[in-house]
Amino acid sequence: MCGIVGVVGSKNATDILIQGLQKLEYRGYDSAGIFVSDERKNQSIIKAVGRISSLQEKIGIEVNGSIGIGHTRWATHGKPTENNAHPHASESNRILLVHNGVVENYKEIKTEYLNGHHFIGETDTEVCAHLIGKFIEVDHLTPKDAFVKALGIIEGSYAFAMVDREDPTVIYVAKNKSPLLVGLGEGYNMVGSDAMAMIRETKQFLEIHDKEVVIVKKDSVEILDEAGIQQERDAFTAELDLSDIGKGTYPYYMLKEIDEQPAVMRRIMQNYFKDGKYLVADEIKKAVIEADRIYIVAAGTSYHAGYASKTFFEELTDTPVELCIASEFGYNLPLLSKKPLFIYISQSGETADSRQVLVKTKELGYPALTVTNVPGSTLSREADFTMALHAGPEIAVASTKAYTAQIAVMSILAKAVGEEIGNEKAKSFNLIQELSLVATSMVATLAEKEWIESKVAEYLKDTRNAFYIGRGQDYFVSMEAALKLKEISYIQCEGFAAGELKHGTIALIEEGTPVLAIISNKSIASHTRGNIMEVSSRGANVLKVVSADCQEEGDDILVGNVHSYLTSLAMVIPTQLIAYYATLQRGLDVDKPRNLAKSVTVE
Ligand code: AGP
Repeated sequence: MCGIVGVVGSKNATDILIQGLQKLEYRGYDSAGIFVSDERKNQSIIKAVGRISSLQEKIGIEVNGSIGIGHTRWATHGKPTENNAHPHASESNRILLVHNGVVENYKEIKTEYLNGHHFIGETDTEVCAHLIGKFIEVDHLTPKDAFVKALGIIEGSYAFAMVDREDPTVIYVAKNKSPLLVGLGEGYNMVGSDAMAMIRETKQFLEIHDKEVVIVKKDSVEILDEAGIQQERDAFTAELDLSDIGKGTYPYYMLKEIDEQPAVMRRIMQNYFKDGKYLVADEIKKAVIEADRIYIVAAGTSYHAGYASKTFFEELTDTPVELCIASEFGYNLPLLSKKPLFIYISQSGETADSRQVLVKTKELGYPALTVTNVPGSTLSREADFTMALHAGPEIAVASTKAYTAQIAVMSILAKAVGEEIGNEKAKSFNLIQELSLVATSMVATLAEKEWIESKVAEYLKDTRNAFYIGRGQDYFVSMEAALKLKEISYIQCEGFAAGELKHGTIALIEEGTPVLAIISNKSIASHTRGNIMEVSSRGANVLKVVSADCQEEGDDILVGNVHSYLTSLAMVIPTQLIAYYATLQRGLDVDKPRNLAKSVTVE
């Protein structure tokens, strides 16, 4: 949450910052701000509440320079106001700071070090700017030493970029638990929360490790560890294309990403299957085989992808799978088995809730695999093993292609392990053929957009609440479908096990309540249809999303058949489109729903 970008040594600092912030807007869009300076110290700070576009409107052509830092905010401490927007200044205005993360001891810092200081906003970041400024002005430390001293006091998560107005040739940066990268250019260098923010300028990047301090100048980058010892680090090239991060001709990223799913299925097959073999590293297979239980730790959509993977994973690997909500794990620790393997499923690889579990399970000495769309992300670096999703950047806040990619990659892992241990079901399961069928089914559903849009208008117009119901795999899809609908359309929606409604929640069904039923399993279809009758007779308006082999007259949306292990991959597609069109029909911003951010880097 929150995005940071900085550049030093460029002629067009403002343009570079704005372009970078636009790419980071998915991380938060409550307010935005920049500081720019030229070498003669002509300096400007511009801030605006809301989107980057509001900031852009306030920037005149005279606002430019050779160095700058910028920030897009997802509010944690204090409302989304201009006073709380970054960059924040020290008391004398000399130090400017942008920050992503949460400083846990900012109140203590205020009381202990900053008595008598006047703050214009309520953020933890402003407190840090004052602390650094105080060490320069009162204790006469250099900006670097003041920065380092402050970092020794600050507790919590942070990615900081700092500029000293007196010397606008250096950006001081540091990180702990929040993401930050250095981008390397010819005659200029950059910093940013992710590679996308810098990819227009460079493809060469340097990782920053937690607690390091990095001094970025136009022609040098100095990395110091916690003890102040200089570190050597090789640059890496990001395999990102500018076209991957653009919307192309699509009105919204979400629609583009929904449409990309058949291609993502094929890309996963290409990356994980060659010459008749599944390409999963031996040590990853070994880790699964040696485990007596798999714990999948994840949040939100990734958690739902874990559920969708549970059945085939257990059946193909003969290993029980337990699902854990990352944010609950610390307090509701399950009784762990003797040889657990932890699998962290995370699109971004940066989710703080999952990361705190990873830190804990590493301390306990348990092996960890991260399944992520961002190799090189924190969860990927800190786990023992990583499997990549190959889904391409997912920019819409609502996750779509990452969900299906996560299930597909988990199926590859399960199949590879199953073959290795000689599991009969795994041997007879032609996964590549089945994933091709999934891609075909997805293509057919995506061709029915207009029909689905008309069904959304018919069933969800003006409603304030709705239910998704299903059994088995369809229940797992219902949970994900409900999350998608509520997070972008703001329709209050719950995903329910169809048989569970009658145990209480059916009391909420009244005349016209939309109930969206998912049916993809012939053997339990009649039970779900029974539940449909129960809610229909109480006035519910039931929209049925049904696989071809379960079809009956009067069903609304048909989905091409796929293998029973993989029905979530096919059945979720219409539900993503339902969420998309319900949001569009309400005139809301599909890609940037209120109160949310793509990468949830606070606990
Ligand atoms: C869903 O659309 C959300 N984007 C959200 O639930 C997300 O899946 C969750 O925050 C976990 O993120 P991660 O996959 O990046 O760890």
